[in-house]
Amino acid sequence: MKIAIIGAGFGGLASAKVLSQFGHEVTLFEKAPDVGGVWSATRRYPGLRTQNNKGTYCYTDFPMPASYPEWPSGAQVQQYLEDYARHFDLNGSIRLNTEVMSAEPTARDGWRLTLRNAQTGETSDHETDTLVVANGIFSEPFIPPYEGREAFEAAGGRLCATSDFRDLEQARGKHVLVVGYGKSSCDVAAAVGEVAMSTKVIARELLWKMPRKIMNVLNYKYLMLTRMGEGLFPYIEQRGFERFLHGPGKGVRDSMIKSLQSVATRQLKLEKLGLVPEGTFDRIARSTVSLATDSLYRQVEEGRSEVVRDCEIVRLGQDRGQPIAELSDGRKVPAEIVICGTGFKQVVPFFSEALQQRLTDDEGNFMLYRQIQPLEIPNLFFCGYNSSFYSPLSAEVAALWIAAYTMGEISLPPLEERRTHVRKRLRWMQERTEGKHARGTNIIPFSMHNIDEMLNEMGLNVSAFTRFKQWLLPTNANDYRSVTRVLLKRQRMRGRTAEQHAPDLRGRSAV
Ligand SMILES: Cc1cc2nc3c(=O)[nH]c(=O)nc-3n(C[C@H](O)[C@H](O)[C@H](O)COP(=O)(O)OP(=O)(O)OC[C@H]3O[C@@H](n4cnc5c(N)ncnc54)[C@H](O)[C@@H]3O)c2cc1C
Ligand SMILES: NC(=O)c1ccc[n+]([C@@H]2O[C@H](COP(=O)([O-])OP(=O)(O)OC[C@H]3O[C@@H](n4cnc5c(N)ncnc54)[C@H](OP(=O)(O)O)[C@@H]3O)[C@@H](O)[C@H]2O)c1
Repeated sequence: MKIAIIGAGFGGLASAKVLSQFGHEVTLFEKAPDVGGVWSATRRYPGLRTQNNKGTYCYTDFPMPASYPEWPSGAQVQQYLEDYARHFDLNGSIRLNTEVMSAEPTARDGWRLTLRNAQTGETSDHETDTLVVANGIFSEPFIPPYEGREAFEAAGGRLCATSDFRDLEQARGKHVLVVGYGKSSCDVAAAVGEVAMSTKVIARELLWKMPRKIMNVLNYKYLMLTRMGEGLFPYIEQRGFERFLHGPGKGVRDSMIKSLQSVATRQLKLEKLGLVPEGTFDRIARSTVSLATDSLYRQVEEGRSEVVRDCEIVRLGQDRGQPIAELSDGRKVPAEIVICGTGFKQVVPFFSEALQQRLTDDEGNFMLYRQIQPLEIPNLFFCGYNSSFYSPLSAEVAALWIAAYTMGEISLPPLEERRTHVRKRLRWMQERTEGKHARGTNIIPFSMHNIDEMLNEMGLNVSAFTRFKQWLLPTNANDYRSVTRVLLKRQRMRGRTAEQHAPDLRGRSAV
């Protein structure tokens, strides 16, 4: 089959590698000049590192180099992805600087793409049998539409997203506001705090954060990147030990959460700094579970930076020719640069309005079975829409699921059953996260459940022993190395090459 892929981040590259291995003719389009997605040189803010340790943030058959540190830098991750593309001979299939402007279904259930060369502006068309959307759920930054932006900019103020703030020198000696209290905002504020005249983090709600090293000793991976860590939070369907943890063993589970809360509070000196978030530590799992940026808390303690809690920017503007921001606490503060770490938009602008409506529910959430497949649109898949604690592994397993589906290895439940399944999950997500689930695409903290569900459906989960080990030790991507091999073997045994199967699939709708 001819398969087109949109995006060269972890999701797109995994799809390109896996689907090529299964005999498909793959073309990947990436609008940036390099591969990497969020790790591209075009998006990395100063000081960006992974939250994951390197063993949990790589593909199954391509470990990060031994020379890399436990938490690789943004540049190292981007290099890793370049090496991956080279190692698996993907470069001939990747078209950089090429934006997919539109993607329309054709009469024969294929897709017609309109492409734009980002350097020359030239447009062209591309026809394909199948489309994989891997455009990233944290790719398109959201900047609040502040009133007064024009006057602010006319006075020399700069408003930008964290992903557009790449040169720390621009903050030297300036008054800087950083909006938001997610990982991006806290990291950027900590970097800026070293060079700026003043740094204020404007946080409309404080969040609980996990220290990278608990009590400055224990790597957090032993707590959060294990099945035990995931099991601390109640999944939609509980089995085995999880039933115990949220049933008769709830006391044990609650006291573990309480201990984490008191360790984080003490270690980051949250009480002294007046930065204890509302509610209990359970709420860390409400959206993305981010790590604490330790140096930010040190800077606040030393009076070099300020975190303004429960506060928002009400208006930007100017005062006597100087750019300022008006805050909801009534202050007017100098603001030469306002950097927004205010999250991302999960958008698919290359699809028509009508198609976008068919992909989503009334609230705009993506209705994807297994976070991969739209309910009623044939030959379309999403990869990376199961953003997790182990995004590279989650994306690779999603790519394998797509490969297995194209081989006819997955028998889907009937349409109405899938629809009910997706609706039920979105309802549960909405309640669990107070609406912060990135339009149904962020499954944290239930990464392993999602991986289990995809693999079980393919009949390819790892052994009970490996899964048991993962209760106590961080999930190593390498544990899943054999999945591709076994699936390829099945393909050979069935004698089904992708070419033989393509005509069936084109005729087959997901309905
Ligand atoms: C700053 C940051 C740090 C992160 N750190 C971690 C971490 O430590 N651990 C973790 O588990 N997760 C982390 N994440 C989550 C991260 O999103 C995933 O880990 C993973 O990198 C996402 O890969 P992806 O391929 O799905 O999307 P992306 O990396 O966003 O890649 C999508 C690609 O699609 C391209 N694209 C989009 N639209 C088009 C179009 N129309 N035409 C052509 N190309 C297009 C984009 O240019 C981009 O290159 C982080 C996210 C951010 C924003
Ligand atoms: N490897 C790394 O170190 C790293 C670095 C950066 C990001 N990441 C990952 O990337 C993902 C995105 O993280 P992120 O920090 O960029 O975004 P995020 O987690 O979505 O956080 C957005 C922040 O902006 C606030 N916000 C949103 N809209 C706002 C508005 N209109 N006005 C004021 N504040 C607003 C949010 O507040 P509310 O909570 O009130 O909505 C929240 O504090 C996460 O999964 C994160 O873990 C990882």
